Amino acid sequence: MNKQPEIPCSRWYDAISKRGARRHFIKNRPIEPELASALENICARFTPYEGARAIFVNKPADSLFKGIIGGIGKIKNPPAFIAFTGIQEAGSIDEKSGYTGEGIILEATALGLNTCWVAGTYYPEKAAKYLDLKENEKLYAISPVGYAVNEKSFEEKLMSGFGTTKKRHSPSRLGVTNWEELPEWVRGSLEAARHAPSAINRQPWGFSADETSIMVYVRTRGGDHGFSKRFDCGIAMLHVEIAALHFGIKGEWEFLSDPQVARFHRVG
Ligand SMILES: Cc1cc2nc3c(=O)[nH]c(=O)nc-3n(C[C@H](O)[C@H](O)[C@H](O)COP(=O)(O)O)c2cc1C
Repeated sequence: MNKQPEIPCSRWYDAISKRGARRHFIKNRPIEPELASALENICARFTPYEGARAIFVNKPADSLFKGIIGGIGKIKNPPAFIAFTGIQEAGSIDEKSGYTGEGIILEATALGLNTCWVAGTYYPEKAAKYLDLKENEKLYAISPVGYAVNEKSFEEKLMSGFGTTKKRHSPSRLGVTNWEELPEWVRGSLEAARHAPSAINRQPWGFSADETSIMVYVRTRGGDHGFSKRFDCGIAMLHVEIAALHFGIKGEWEFLSDPQVARFHRVG
């Protein structure tokens, strides 16, 4: 079980539906000082699990990103970035790092900023130069942060599959066979989890739920393309908890071993 993290539930619940990956930023538009302080503060405060943290770096970050083939898909012109790390000895660190990082992404969204989780299309060694990483602290991913251009360019639309990356699997495909019998807070939490972002929109998670708990597991069996599916599941875990709080339900996470990830137990 973990200590109860401080989650600004209505603020982050609203941000879940507003967030979407954005890759092209307005050139030379910096983040205002008060928003930069807010990002620094949330990175310092939202550390629910020992070993997992986010670091805000308020420096232009265009050169940290690369395209998939040539320049295609490259993140352009972000005035700043956020790094997401985890100390490898800490247990269940992949999912804890995903959970922690998504809190920062949702706070950035609530502040009116745009982001895009990036685990593949960047240069980790260049990003690491801005970070004072500890021994055994792994850099999992970064996100650009700033103001996206108003309209998605053709290339940005291409990267989001002309809307198809917004597509999410149905609850039954995600293993939930008793949807009709579940209480409202469980259904609401599963809906929020279903809409979580994941690397290449692979949605590797599955869920099983009853009246008092929701279990997250790694559903997909194929390879992980070099990036932890448990990290994606950690992102979905935060969405579960935010939505549960929105429905007035508090709970605690019990971490589980592979292929299970964690179970959220309703408390009270
Ligand atoms: C852990 C993680 C890693 C990601 N890595 C990349 C990446 O390397 N490059 C990229 O362009 N998008 C990356 N994405 C963005 C996903 O493609 C995107 O979140 C997904 O398609 C869902 O779209 P949405 O965020 O707009 O809901 C990543 C997302 C996550 C959660």
